[in-house]
Amino acid sequence: MDLIIRLETPADYGTVEDLTRESFWNVHVPGCDEHYLVHKMRYHPDFIPELDFVAVYDDKIVGSIIYTKSRIIDDALNEIGTITFGPLCVLPEYQKCGIGSALINHSRKVSLDLGYRAIIIEGHPHNYCKHGFKGSKTYNIADHEGKYPYSLLVLELEKGFLSGQNWKYYSSDVFQFDADAAAEFDAQFPYKEKKYATTQEEFQIASQAFIL
Ligand SMILES: CC(C)(COP(=O)(O)OP(=O)(O)OC[C@H]1O[C@@H](n2cnc3c(N)ncnc32)[C@H](O)[C@@H]1OP(=O)(O)O)[C@@H](O)C(=O)NCCC(=O)NCCS
Repeated sequence: MDLIIRLETPADYGTVEDLTRESFWNVHVPGCDEHYLVHKMRYHPDFIPELDFVAVYDDKIVGSIIYTKSRIIDDALNEIGTITFGPLCVLPEYQKCGIGSALINHSRKVSLDLGYRAIIIEGHPHNYCKHGFKGSKTYNIADHEGKYPYSLLVLELEKGFLSGQNWKYYSSDVFQFDADAAAEFDAQFPYKEKKYATTQEEFQIASQAFIL
């Protein structure tokens, strides 16, 4: 496959919002908000432009991965900067060809070159453990309430970097957005039917599950 991974440019923004909407539509909930999140992210201080990649196949943008700054804080209130990717998506008709993996592999190499030491994400373990992510409890990284969500996953880019402390994870506040603003943004796109899919049930279960 002749796949190119390159940085996103402002000229790609509309295309990437379209592909994000196509990829996430009805997957986690009826409809989706991820295209609004992408739209907001690029103007947020936590956005990392050096880690904002698109996958191009036959001159067409078919996938996207975007990173934002996150952080972990230990019991002594020492803070370490981490990074978080998402949304990550590939157009449905191009999925299961290795494009999502190529986006993860390329961006993690660049992350290390940029000096980042750990990637922390919220996602389904099935998609990410094969890339070396481990459950956050392995590294004693809890959410801000001190719980260990099933879907909180960690990749140490430098082995041993996270060992020896108890941490709490804080994602960027870009992920907290107004549902009405997201609906208003979506109204600018062509109509698509919102409907139920079993993947929504899996998402609900995964996002309500915690490791004891
Ligand atoms: C999750 C997502 C980004 C994965 O992208 P992708 O391009 O399909 O990922 P890959 O092709 O690298 O891997 C997917 C599967 O295809 C398989 N695969 C990869 N290349 C393959 C090939 N040439 N032939 C057959 N299978 C292949 C992989 O082994 C993997 O299998 P698995 O699911 O059984 O582990 C994509 O499905 C997506 O956009 N989903 C909707 C949005 C979403 O949920 N994003 C993630 C939020 S947590």
